[in-house]
Amino acid sequence: MVVVEIIMATAMVAVIVYLYVKRQQTYWARRNVPHLKPEFFYGNTKTLDRTEQIGIIFARFYNELKNSGPLAGVYMYVRPVAVVTDLELVKCILVKDFQHFTDRGFYYNEIHDPLSAHMFNLPGSKWKSLRQKLSPTFTSGKMKMMFSTIVAAGKQFNDFLEEKVERESELEMKDLLARFTTDVIGMCAFGIECNSMKDPDAQFRVMGRKFFEDQRGQVKNVFHNAAPELAKKAGVRVLDKDVSDFFLNVVRETVDYRVKNNIKRNDFMDLLIQMRNPEESESGEGLLSFNELAAQCFLFYLAGFETSSTLLTWTLYELSLNQSIQEKGRQHVMNVLDKHDGEITYESVNDMIYLDKILNEALRKYPPVPVHFREATKDYQVPDTKIVIETGTKVFIPVYGIHHDPAVFPDPERFDPERFSPEQVQNRHPCAWTPFGEGPRICIGLRFGLLQAKVGLIYLLKNFKFDIGEKSKAPLSFDVKSLTLSPEGGLSLKVKKNLLAN
Ligand code: HEM
Ligand SMILES: *[C@@H]1O[C@H](CO)[C@@H](O)[C@H](O)[C@H]1NC(C)=O
Repeated sequence: MVVVEIIMATAMVAVIVYLYVKRQQTYWARRNVPHLKPEFFYGNTKTLDRTEQIGIIFARFYNELKNSGPLAGVYMYVRPVAVVTDLELVKCILVKDFQHFTDRGFYYNEIHDPLSAHMFNLPGSKWKSLRQKLSPTFTSGKMKMMFSTIVAAGKQFNDFLEEKVERESELEMKDLLARFTTDVIGMCAFGIECNSMKDPDAQFRVMGRKFFEDQRGQVKNVFHNAAPELAKKAGVRVLDKDVSDFFLNVVRETVDYRVKNNIKRNDFMDLLIQMRNPEESESGEGLLSFNELAAQCFLFYLAGFETSSTLLTWTLYELSLNQSIQEKGRQHVMNVLDKHDGEITYESVNDMIYLDKILNEALRKYPPVPVHFREATKDYQVPDTKIVIETGTKVFIPVYGIHHDPAVFPDPERFDPERFSPEQVQNRHPCAWTPFGEGPRICIGLRFGLLQAKVGLIYLLKNFKFDIGEKSKAPLSFDVKSLTLSPEGGLSLKVKKNLLAN
């Protein structure tokens, strides 16, 4: 008897699961939205397999679906995800109708994992008040204040590299560049000399690497994706406990030290301490609780070093492939510096417009964040269609796909900084190029990121010459485990001193 009942029950569960998956995976069909045919259970992405970087997966979807209308559907396992395939609609979602898309839909857990409750992850209302509090931290005035710190780190990086090329002719640049940006953000966000330049095992670098490598495809991600509310109650964390403890401690010590000794250093930490609620366990009007302060510090650190260092990595890669652009960039740096008495100042850096073109083109070809994420917070009628994006639907913008679409950027695999001449920019759709996102949730650290990349590039071009190394001769592939678009196995370059540098 019992055996029969068990078989019956199992069969029933199987049928229910089957029907649930089928129902979920006909979501787009039932709404007459163009879509890709899902594989049973897996849908279209198989993110746990880790065979393709997420930006490339969504670029593929973009190419397959872009001729079928402004919006199309895919499935990540059983979850329907909308893919935006039209630039006007990108603009509506990010900018014009932002009110319908204020969230990214990322998991965080304020109680069990306070560092995960940072601005990038927070939903609408919580995000808004935090963004308002933090915006004054990133004005051009504040960037000017931090400029000397960035240059100091650039100088250290330069000296380190000069020593290194005396002994080695081929260098792994990705790691070196990440150490440079780690030092910059360490100084600016924590006021700490991370020293990762000299000491590759410096704690900051180790913890940062741990966070970015090996994020995708973890089983806990499946849980908090499928049932975020349940995961929150069950105490599922985003960060490993040792990473989290390390950063909470660093922030604790830094805050205490500065408050006790009344230290002011014109950096992010300083600005955050000014907003610290003396009643540390709660936030208030314009004030941050200790946990909130620590979470933002942590976010600046994460957002600051990885994105900017991969930007510099790809830039050096392209400049090594095209020596004439590299030389033009070098001449430009020399000429502008000559006009400014050879000094790297805020003004001279601002005058180096050709470097902006180079960096912008590198951001086009290799957007460090290759997909933008939104979640519908209110039903949204897609203009000029019958499609309604329902509340709670995830909406992805395939940045890498758009940046490589020949209809948007002709001959997209060619690296051409002149795409960013004022005329060419004028002739493009305003949402054609969005490496920093767009609208109210655009990257808050955009100026800072570009500034540190530019200062790094100035030192690199001024004093060194780059050529493709033996190990990087074959076309580079993308690291599928990385959240950002970064080269598998790093970037190996032949580096020489520029003997003409003064
Ligand atoms: C080259 C460097 C960088 C790139 C390519 C980059 C890219 C991005 C992108 C694509 C987003 C999402 C935008 C959207 O969804 O519309 C973002 C958000 C963000 N970035 Fe950056 N970023 C860079 C550097 C930085 C730096 C240096 C910081 C801080 C020091 C920073 C802090 C943030 C923060 C706090 C957010 C969340 C903004 C919000 O939700 O309101 N980023 N970034
Ligand atoms: C380098 O870039 C320039 C300018 O875009 C282009 O004319 C030239 O063909 C490129 N050279 C190589 C080797 O790709």
